[in-house]
Amino acid sequence: METLDKSSLPLAEERQGEVLSKGSATREGDKRLYIESYGCQMNFSDSEIVASILSGAGYATTRDLEEADLVLLNTCSIRDKAEQTVRKRLQFFNQVKDKKPELTVGVLGCMAERLKEQLLDEEKLVDLVVGPDAYRELPQLLEEIGGGQKAVNVLLSKEETYGDVQPVRLGGNGITAFISITRGCDNMCTFCVVPFTRGRERSRKPETIVQEAQDLWAAGYKEITLLGQNVDSFLWYGGGPKKDFAKASEAAKATAVDFAQLLERVALAVPEMRIRFSTSNPQDMSDSVLHAIARHKNICNYIHLPVQSGSSRILKEMNRGHDREEYIALIDRIRRIIPDCGLSQDMIAGFPTETEDEHKETLSLMEYVRYHFGFMFFYSERPNTYAARNKTDDIPLEVKKRRLNEIIDMQQKHSLERNKEQIGKVQEVLIEGSSKRSEEHWFGRNPQNTVVVFPKNGERPGDMVQVRVDSCTAATLLGEKIGS
Ligand code: SAH
Ligand code: F3S
Repeated sequence: METLDKSSLPLAEERQGEVLSKGSATREGDKRLYIESYGCQMNFSDSEIVASILSGAGYATTRDLEEADLVLLNTCSIRDKAEQTVRKRLQFFNQVKDKKPELTVGVLGCMAERLKEQLLDEEKLVDLVVGPDAYRELPQLLEEIGGGQKAVNVLLSKEETYGDVQPVRLGGNGITAFISITRGCDNMCTFCVVPFTRGRERSRKPETIVQEAQDLWAAGYKEITLLGQNVDSFLWYGGGPKKDFAKASEAAKATAVDFAQLLERVALAVPEMRIRFSTSNPQDMSDSVLHAIARHKNICNYIHLPVQSGSSRILKEMNRGHDREEYIALIDRIRRIIPDCGLSQDMIAGFPTETEDEHKETLSLMEYVRYHFGFMFFYSERPNTYAARNKTDDIPLEVKKRRLNEIIDMQQKHSLERNKEQIGKVQEVLIEGSSKRSEEHWFGRNPQNTVVVFPKNGERPGDMVQVRVDSCTAATLLGEKIGS
């Protein structure tokens, strides 16, 4: 993953890494499902919905490929590299299937949606191709396969939110969980494949979101992350795509719930639960959201606020809906309303026509914000996007990589500086589990989403503790628990 600056990702590499889940402990059922997730948190969350739908059809999840009847890969198309990773994995499963022909292999998610039937031709042994809005059809599609056919359903929906599906929590830590609140994206950033693979943006009924949060709290979870491609755009008005809001009845409009109101509702419904959300979009983030964060102690002071570029011209070419000055004004408002807010970014180096000066504007924006951490990539042309159809991918790979490295180096510097500022200060840390490096240490995160590691002393995962920071790296704060 040369495009991802892992060392600056306190948000657990596994989550933004490529394989997010390899199934969970075996549960009751006659058939066995082995599911792997690639890409974003939304895919991880969708796999939990898929596991739930298939449990109703007699499938229990397994971590053991040997005993699987059904293998599903929940795939990502965001960059070419993500697709290559999945293709390699499919070749491996095809070899497994050579030895075990009765095994069913299916592709879900964004690659399924992007490539459709083409996947059946390219990967001869794939039996099943199902897009992100068709998971309810899985049991029926599997029956068709039982009859000796291949099955494809890649219909996108304007309504589907799986709001009533209670996810089967896969391979998690029992402490932190994701809740999907919107699906799809209407933003049409010119580089991005998501609007094509995940369809129109629609929001989930708030009551089902609140219920899921309460159920998680009752099950012992201590932190939830509300998920969407653009959470700030959340708008419930009785169902249907956000685009059709203007056409809704006056009665529906009068009871509409926006993201700030949803956050408030969730914060009040589970007052002891830590609440995070991802991803925020600068063009849609309202001050009422910032005030909701400031007002509720249980909403973490942390915003993932992708910007992609520091150049107004490139932002316009990307169709990002805001310029550099507007983004800076938003950062200033965040700092004023939530003074200790952690901030992270997504950046793309080498978008078509980006000049050296425009790249420097990205670096100078970073100097201004001094993000706590970030997710950084070089531009990868995606078929059928506006940029692919209308622009030449004209920045040479070495230049893209060099610019990306400069962005990563700057982020590393800022992450280290930000972490050094915490030395001597006390942090509230939710313990998520043992540190990967040492069984003697706990691993958790502070509200700003930075990883904190400290020696164990009788605590348990899920405990909220106060930790004094004594030292740090660019990725981690190291300290000592204080108090009882
Ligand atoms: N709003 C979404 C964005 C999804 S894509 C969210 O929930 O995060 C995540 C990040 O991948 C984007 O912010 C962007 O930085 C990067 N990305 C998307 N398309 C890309 C492309 N074609 N090439 C390189 N990076 C890309
Ligand atoms: Fe992609 Fe832009 Fe939406 S990055 S997911 S089109 S906000």
